[in-house]
Amino acid sequence: MARLLTLTLNPALDLSVSLERLVPGTVNRTRETHLTAAGKGVNVARVLVALGHEVTVSGFLGADNDGPFLRAFEALGVEDAFLRVPGETRINAKLSEADGQVTDINGPGAAIGDDAWQRLLDWLAARLDNTERRPAAVVIAGSLPPGVTPERLAALIEQLREAGLPVWVDTSGEALDRAIAARPTAVKPNEQELATWAGEALTSAEARLRAALRLYAAGVEEALLSAGPDGVLWVSARGAWQAVPPRLTVASTVGAGDTLLAALLHGVVEGHTAEQTLRLATALSAESVRHVGVGNPRATDFPHLQQQTRVRRLNDVDAGGAIA
Ligand SMILES: Nc1ncnc2c1ncn2[C@@H]1O[C@H](COP(=O)(O)OP(=O)(O)OP(=O)(O)O)[C@@H](O)[C@H]1O
Ligand SMILES: [Mg+2]
Repeated sequence: MARLLTLTLNPALDLSVSLERLVPGTVNRTRETHLTAAGKGVNVARVLVALGHEVTVSGFLGADNDGPFLRAFEALGVEDAFLRVPGETRINAKLSEADGQVTDINGPGAAIGDDAWQRLLDWLAARLDNTERRPAAVVIAGSLPPGVTPERLAALIEQLREAGLPVWVDTSGEALDRAIAARPTAVKPNEQELATWAGEALTSAEARLRAALRLYAAGVEEALLSAGPDGVLWVSARGAWQAVPPRLTVASTVGAGDTLLAALLHGVVEGHTAEQTLRLATALSAESVRHVGVGNPRATDFPHLQQQTRVRRLNDVDAGGAIA
């Protein structure tokens, strides 16, 4: 098993509120409320731990409300290397009504100043120099907080790649486009997130394959594209592969993408075959949508879900991103 690092630059505390009906402009009574430590890198860490890896989590946390994170990290058994910045981590509210309607209220996150950014770079440099604790790969996941520009993210990716570290990125918007230009080892956008970069709506299977091949040709060694129930495309030196998950009743798709990315990284660092890697990752991401939270590899029917996942190799891919 490997030592892995996840970076969450803009984590959040998720406040889930369930109520009968939300009536704006009035006093509403809640049925239940929950405050949980969230953030894509934290979700990825949960899956990596479940798959047996030794994980360090880092990024930025507000010093004034890090209690739920401390408890979550302790329960998970990950090393907490988050840098504390003055103030509070943002709180994102998710209001769920009895009829299934969900209203999200998300904050931008606390601004990260030059000194905090430099502290993170210094910590990363020291960690990469530490022969005993150097990670085998780093995952950078989620949105950027104010103060961390897409250019800063791109420069970070380039630095880590120059230091020989595999860098897996999951972000969106301008940050994704700039990240791709910095040639990370892997990216895993969904079909909406990649559309701007691709310059076309990725609604058809052909358009998606075109985009995934172009991503690989642009220098992303592990080009991943997920499309919810339609499954996953994976283009790499191993060829172009496609997987379609089994049909399941959806409870929550939050965390499906994080599960997919983590499980793919697992297969790659463990040196599993492309078929085995994509099958496990796709099945685990499908497992995650049946319930709230990330995929559980210990679900009793997980072997069955893997069998029901359809995986096929489309063909060989040349370095220009064409299918031979
Ligand atoms: N309805 C579904 N049924 C079965 N599997 C699903 C479903 N939705 C998602 N998945 C699985 O999860 C993977 C990732 O989902 P999706 O493409 O929605 O990622 P995402 O939009 O990045 O998710 P996230 O909200 O976690 O960022 C899919 O490729 C698929 O394998
Ligand atoms: Mg996603």
